[in-house]
Amino acid sequence: MKHLPLFFDLAGRRVVVVGGSPAARRRAEMARSAGAAVYECETVSTADLKGSAAVFVATGDFDSDLDARRAATAAGVPVNVADRPQLSDFILPAIVDRDEVVVAISTGGASPTLATLLRGRIEAMLPAQFGAVARLARTFRGQANALIEPGRRRAFWRRLIEGPAAWLALRGDEAGARRIALTELDAARHETTPLGIAHIVGAGPGDPDLLTLKAAQLLQQADVILHDALVPEAILDRARREAAFIDVGKRKGRVGWAQADIEAEMICRVRAGQTVVRLKAGDPFVFGRGAEEVDALRAAGLPVTVVPGITAALGCAASAGIALTDRRVASSVTFLSGHAAHDAAGGHTHVIYMAVSEAAAVRDRLLADGADPTTPVAIVENGTRPDERISTGRLADLARLSVGHGTGPSLIIVGEVAARAAADRAPLAEVS
Ligand SMILES: C[S@@+](CC[C@H](N)C(=O)[O-])C[C@H]1O[C@@H](n2cnc3c(N)ncnc32)[C@H](O)[C@@H]1O
Repeated sequence: MKHLPLFFDLAGRRVVVVGGSPAARRRAEMARSAGAAVYECETVSTADLKGSAAVFVATGDFDSDLDARRAATAAGVPVNVADRPQLSDFILPAIVDRDEVVVAISTGGASPTLATLLRGRIEAMLPAQFGAVARLARTFRGQANALIEPGRRRAFWRRLIEGPAAWLALRGDEAGARRIALTELDAARHETTPLGIAHIVGAGPGDPDLLTLKAAQLLQQADVILHDALVPEAILDRARREAAFIDVGKRKGRVGWAQADIEAEMICRVRAGQTVVRLKAGDPFVFGRGAEEVDALRAAGLPVTVVPGITAALGCAASAGIALTDRRVASSVTFLSGHAAHDAAGGHTHVIYMAVSEAAAVRDRLLADGADPTTPVAIVENGTRPDERISTGRLADLARLSVGHGTGPSLIIVGEVAARAAADRAPLAEVS
């Protein structure tokens, strides 16, 4: 090992950044994000550096870098000079930053490109909200050590970090995550089986490289995968080898599982503590019965998450080189099912992009086209992001609902289905 990796607590400490280059600005920003008091300058003397925790130098000029290095050495302050490991006391690793979880990668200065490549791979492996899992673990650390017998602690921690509670934390439901974690703590104390979790996952149109990162991670964690006939082998091959695979789909000349049986199987397995992946072609909520499966699990008081997938229309259009809303020839696109759902009223769902700033005009147009003013609407801003915000109401109120929306990317969903938006964001039922 050429360099010893250390994590430096810079909170409230003075850090000096010398130079005005982009590299200097990046270093200043990084030090600030670690809580340092950053002092930026073009040149520096030994006296300027007294009491500093570290110096970053990035002037871009060898002689100026060398002068700054000498000043730092004379002041006894450790120094890093950008792109000059021979002048540096310490080097900066490539970093994967997930709040409390930080991964540092170093090649000992041999190849920054290799470090960047490795960083990209680790970025893809670690969910964006991974810090929430660390916070969850911190919350339970004292209780777990005090209440769980040492021999059972490891299993508890693995489950907390990989299991249902972690998935709820990753999708931003920290209260739900804590509730599940409490049941797991209880189960570990009393040696009973904790609850599992169901994930309703979109497999995309068929190319395994079009799986989302979340879908790929879940395939690696599943105890059991209930999949449709349309999901190809190439996607199932990405799953954990030890998982049980259940084909619940319909094929020509063969009757598939009844919907009620699929739901019953999922409920039974989640109650038995398993991580259940319900893998559906495309997106689970586009012409699939994902919503009914979510309802069944919620009604049973069980945790469930939904992972969207690339729906066939988008996958096929891209593959065929068709831009569905090429502005020169089209301004809207409608997804329709060849056969109407048996019991549904056959209502239409509008998903309107780039419309929040014109909500009143959208409302007037839809009303003029004969829409019922009481039709449910939802505005989704920053969808799927940590700062996601959803407002729901009726079409007649759309203009009022839109006030305060639109700072982030937003779209409007109009139709009976929009009434479900609030229900789907509601906390999970109490788990006993
Ligand atoms: C029950 S629907 C499920 C749709 C799926 N939930 C989605 O979002 O794509 C099944 C239909 O989707 C379409 N489909 C799914 N995957 C497809 C693909 N790779 N190429 C063309 N059509 C596809 C076909 O029309 C198929 O009959």
